[in-house]
Amino acid sequence: MPRIFITRIWPGSAIERLNGYEVDVWPEFEAPPRDVLLQRARGVDALITTLDDRIDAELLDAAGPSLKIVAQSAVGYNNIDLDAARQRGVWVTNTPGVLDEATADIAFALFMAAARRIAEGMDYVRAGKWTAWHPSLLLGADLHGATMGIVGLGRIGAAFARRCTGFDMKILYTGRKPRPLADAQGYEFRPLDDLLAESDFVSLHVPLTPETNNLMNRDRLRRMKQGAILINTARGQVVDTEALIEVLRDGHLAGAGLDVTDPEPLPADHPLLQLPNVVVTPHIGSASYRTRTTMIELAVGDTLAVLEGRQPVHPVVSVE
Ligand code: NAP
Ligand code: GLV
Repeated sequence: MPRIFITRIWPGSAIERLNGYEVDVWPEFEAPPRDVLLQRARGVDALITTLDDRIDAELLDAAGPSLKIVAQSAVGYNNIDLDAARQRGVWVTNTPGVLDEATADIAFALFMAAARRIAEGMDYVRAGKWTAWHPSLLLGADLHGATMGIVGLGRIGAAFARRCTGFDMKILYTGRKPRPLADAQGYEFRPLDDLLAESDFVSLHVPLTPETNNLMNRDRLRRMKQGAILINTARGQVVDTEALIEVLRDGHLAGAGLDVTDPEPLPADHPLLQLPNVVVTPHIGSASYRTRTTMIELAVGDTLAVLEGRQPVHPVVSVE
């Protein structure tokens, strides 16, 4: 009977579709440790993975020649060595599209929280400091009519842009090339450095690749407007964390909203968390019940497709 290892328990009932297969699900909250992952992958036909499972040549070799598919239940796949999978004739699939709105919601929530200092306000109230109303208390930034710079106007970036238009914001975007459809909507393309210099707020929506690793380095963070706010729901490594701390500490940036960090998980004593003007959530962009159940549905569907000799719906690496 073909064997499948699933590296997490997912919400919903998608896994029931795998009856007829020998299914092993890692039961703990923490990710399977490396040695466990290597051992549980041995001899399987399919792996259903997620964003922090390192799937490299060593892991693929541990799984061995029976492995036909790595079905990633996430849209990002920077944890997977695609060349190693290709060389071994292993399909890789992901879950694009179904998490755009949920992730854009989190990006917008972080944006509003940072701009209007929601977490600071909560801390202030909890600390018993709310003794009076004052015209200068916790002044934040105006969202309405501001300029939002979107780095990576893909599926999630576009969903985020739609939210911004509801606030009558001017949208600038950057990517490897202008997008005619975006231009038709009144969004304006800018080279990255120009976008950073012109935007009141910047939101990151690029995948983590060798080109985007450390994209927001010290120099680029300094190019952002004085008093601007950075939102990151892409991947932590897109931003130089040390440089970010520096520009937040010295007031060059007014705040940051981060759903992804480097390192991840972020330890409770990390210097980022000492800064009052930073809002951090624990990588929960797609964390709604409906979105997560849909993601695992897609991963299970593509696993079944490959095991049953059909084409998967969302290939990242295809096997001819
Ligand atoms: P997508 O549709 O592929 O969009 C990515 C965008 O990034 C595209 O517009 C692409 O533009 C641009 N891009 C790629 N490489 C670039 C580069 N070197 N320089 C500038 N722009 C570049 O991807 P998506 O579905 O929106 O997802 C984006 C990322 O969000 C994922 O890869 C993942 O890391 C992250 N994510 C996070 C969460 C969370 O929970 N926080 C949830 C889902 C996804 P061009 O192709 O035009 O260059
Ligand atoms: C989440 O980060 C994803 O890539 O789906």
